[in-house]
Amino acid sequence: MAIEAEENRRDFLILATSAFGVAGVAAAAWPFIRSWSPSADVLAQATTEVDISALQKGQMITIPWQGKPVFVVHRTPEMITSAQSGDKESLPDPAKDADRVKKPEYLVLLAVCTHLGCVPQPIGTGNFGGFLCPCHGSHYDTSGRIRQGPAPRNLEVPYYDFKDEKTLVIGKAMA
Ligand code: FES
Repeated sequence: MAIEAEENRRDFLILATSAFGVAGVAAAAWPFIRSWSPSADVLAQATTEVDISALQKGQMITIPWQGKPVFVVHRTPEMITSAQSGDKESLPDPAKDADRVKKPEYLVLLAVCTHLGCVPQPIGTGNFGGFLCPCHGSHYDTSGRIRQGPAPRNLEVPYYDFKDEKTLVIGKAMA
């Protein structure tokens, strides 16, 4: 009988210790779990409004968005023609220019080379009239498509939209 009582007491202690252990882990993890929720400043950075009214044809600006640079180019008719003439299946990462822009006049690209993540130089510095990433010699055309060099993919097009004729919004508002 004494042995049985001792076993019951031991089982209770094991259960109690386990319960406290779980509660302790949960309490310790709570601040960590809470940190998964996006903070107010992260939410504020989810979208960035850009005034493009002063951006002349042929000019480019670099906008910081979510810690990354974004190129916004007001393309000239020549840049657009060059981009559209590059719609070829033989490209390393085939894509139509029309699928990479919402308005032909404006090109919006994540300025992160798809090779090893360097920031390419501005439009006009590379072959094909586009962007040169001098780190290892990748050339992107006037649509941001990789045309030459080691980069495997085109420069990424971030989500963006036009709020009005003068305002570009980069990113998607979080609900
Ligand atoms: Fe751009 Fe290597 S990082 S070519």
